[in-house]
Amino acid sequence: MSILTCCVPPSSSLPPVRSLRTASEDSITTALHSLQALYCPLRLPATLSKDKEAATAPVDSGYVSEDEGEVAPLQRRYSTTEDAFAALRADPYEKDFTVRWLTSLIARASELPFDSEEAREKAVDDAAFILSSFSDSPTTEEDEALSRDFVFQTSHDSNVTIQINDAPLTGADHTDVGLQSWGASIVFSEMMCKDPERFGLDQLPENATIIELGAGTALISLTLGKLLPSIGAKAQILATDYHTAVLENARTNIITNFGTDNVPVDAMLLDWATPPPALAASANMLFAADVVYAPEHSAWLRDCAAHLLAPEATFWLVVTVRSHGKFNGIPGTAETAFEDFESTRRGGKALRIIDKEMLDKKRGVGRGDENGYMLFKIGWVDA
Ligand SMILES: C[S@@+](CC[C@H](N)C(=O)[O-])C[C@H]1O[C@@H](n2cnc3c(N)ncnc32)[C@H](O)[C@@H]1O
Repeated sequence: MSILTCCVPPSSSLPPVRSLRTASEDSITTALHSLQALYCPLRLPATLSKDKEAATAPVDSGYVSEDEGEVAPLQRRYSTTEDAFAALRADPYEKDFTVRWLTSLIARASELPFDSEEAREKAVDDAAFILSSFSDSPTTEEDEALSRDFVFQTSHDSNVTIQINDAPLTGADHTDVGLQSWGASIVFSEMMCKDPERFGLDQLPENATIIELGAGTALISLTLGKLLPSIGAKAQILATDYHTAVLENARTNIITNFGTDNVPVDAMLLDWATPPPALAASANMLFAADVVYAPEHSAWLRDCAAHLLAPEATFWLVVTVRSHGKFNGIPGTAETAFEDFESTRRGGKALRIIDKEMLDKKRGVGRGDENGYMLFKIGWVDA
């Protein structure tokens, strides 16, 4: 890649987002390399020895004019190129454009024309890495936010429409994964809207309480908030998470979709490891999507569910199946967690997996490393 290519503004060199699906693997990889060179440069020492300078100086691309006084040509070329990089790097428009492009690329990863899953995963990782470099000098949250509209068909006349603020992952904090809507909650929200009876949503008791764990953008809670009235059901829905920035974003999404009066969804802090005593046995239904991505999560969620779930209530848990790397075998940890454990016994009942179903990954939904979703129906059975 030439220096000249690196110094072309992203807004005029990146393949358009709308044609990412038809762009070549090569052009996407080259674009990512250019962005990496621009936004994630190697930090060179301030003073370079002559030899090192020669080794690291860019190939002459003809970019630099030759009449710059007494500065040695190699050094002059290097600093001028750096200036050009620095100016481009500092340009807020280019940065904003790049954030949107990378976020769109990650969101559409499954549609990208890559030959292998490895190449697709690498592209997603590279994009996430570049996004993470922006955490040094973030633009305002408002600038970075991306609004996504979800329209879910229902079994009756009207569709459920949800507007979500999907904030790009900053990389400043690796725990901020809840700032984006993941495939599991999108696929599950669509299923609920198509067939609410299947999930017992039409059988909820009056003034039911529904709790979503690890809600992230709160897509499932918001969907329930719009779906339930359309089938004559009513519930107070608590979208819970433990991450402050994630909860703030969830609150923004609640206001965007329901305003501030008579809102059926509330956002609340809840750590699976320490669920509040006040909520014991309060949930008439419990939901959680893409919350099992470390081995310890399943046991925390099991004990948390045992604490929150009312008798006769159901816990719908959607575990994302990723067959690569460290996530391999994660759905199995959920199955093991709900085997015979003392913590899941309550007065002659035990919390168990009642049913499970593999849900297919949908084209264009979720990240490229998602292979599908395991839906677990969990409830109290006779011990
Ligand atoms: C991969 S995201 C999924 C978000 C959302 N359910 C979705 O599918 O779009 C995992 C979520 O779990 C939350 N989380 C992780 N550990 C948690 C814990 N111990 N207690 C509560 N929430 C947690 C994260 O903050 C994040 O919002």
